[in-house]
Amino acid sequence: MGHTLGTAELRDMVRTAIAYGKTRSIPLAPSVMTIPASNYYDPWRFEVEVDRIFKRIPLMLAPTAELPKPGDYKTMEVVGLPVLITRGQDGVARAFLNACTHRGANVATKARGNAKRFVCPYHGWSFDQTGALRGVAAAEEFGDIDKGCYSLKALTTVERSGLIWVVLDRNSTLDVDAFLSGYDKLLERFGFRDWHFFEKRVIKGPNWKVAYDGYMDYYHIPVLHRETFGPDMLNQAIYSAFGPHQRVQFPLREYSDLEATPEEAWPEATLMDGVWTIFPHISIASFGGGGRGVMISQLLPGETVGESYTTQMYLMAEPPNGDEIAAAHEQFAFLRKVVEDEDYTTGFGLQKALKSGALDEVTFGRNETGAQRFHGWVDRIIGADDEDLNGLFTD
Ligand SMILES: [Fe+2]
Repeated sequence: MGHTLGTAELRDMVRTAIAYGKTRSIPLAPSVMTIPASNYYDPWRFEVEVDRIFKRIPLMLAPTAELPKPGDYKTMEVVGLPVLITRGQDGVARAFLNACTHRGANVATKARGNAKRFVCPYHGWSFDQTGALRGVAAAEEFGDIDKGCYSLKALTTVERSGLIWVVLDRNSTLDVDAFLSGYDKLLERFGFRDWHFFEKRVIKGPNWKVAYDGYMDYYHIPVLHRETFGPDMLNQAIYSAFGPHQRVQFPLREYSDLEATPEEAWPEATLMDGVWTIFPHISIASFGGGGRGVMISQLLPGETVGESYTTQMYLMAEPPNGDEIAAAHEQFAFLRKVVEDEDYTTGFGLQKALKSGALDEVTFGRNETGAQRFHGWVDRIIGADDEDLNGLFTD
């Protein structure tokens, strides 16, 4: 069933990539675009982005494979909020503020684990995986309370395509399906639900948009990455937009094999190739070392405008065995080095330069369609009041 989903769209995208490859061109934005350089360093702007984007927009906080079994959970801090994600005995993923409803202590204190109950380490109140209060310590002395009113504070949680989205705003009325814009149906095709969570790590980066720009940017690849993976790659990209989400592909210069193959037999890797971004903070990139896999990069703003944290998560279609394990570690170590030494080192440098006031504006070319669209969405979302938010995704 998952394998027919989106097939027509995916084949269309391959045909488009072949057509542009033949003419050695790419689709171009109507004009060059500029945005104020201060968008990357103004602390007030940063607060607005955190409040209006990260607190209101569904965030992909965990792949299913990170908490696959009933009882699995993870905790994380997301723009200052302590979040607990659980999987119940019913198999349902749920997210909560990680705060005991007695006095607010974190009920789960480990980064991840498997538990039937979360016992608050402060006074011993206990909660189940659905967030229900199950036990009050010394209940007879504590006094009468309505336990039903003391569940953990739940956050809207949607699990699709082997990925878990959470909305931090507890009053959100956002239509998550409208926000996903059908993109989840294409992502479904990876089959992430059954993949293996191999490894993750966190890298410190510059301003979240400085960092995120790079994930949509193929223009820089043969230049900045000339010493690593870039020298033989094109500086051209084709962006396909699904609401605010964008899939990035190279034009296909080498298409003769594909043209000689019936479309029904086009390889899965070709159909799902490239970088899949999920607005506002995720990039999914395929790789081959050690077996079929993806690196999911999850960017979150740090405490100040000049800081971000990227969690690199490595998912593999099959758990690696034997020599594949070392090959997978090697692949991941390489990707980390590229991101830290090349992308983020450049990002920290440009962050300082912009903050100095060196430029009034930064410029995105007609070939940088991905970033043009991304910054357009950032502006539209921060400009929209809560009641207008759904309208952005349904127009
Ligand atoms: Fe890069």
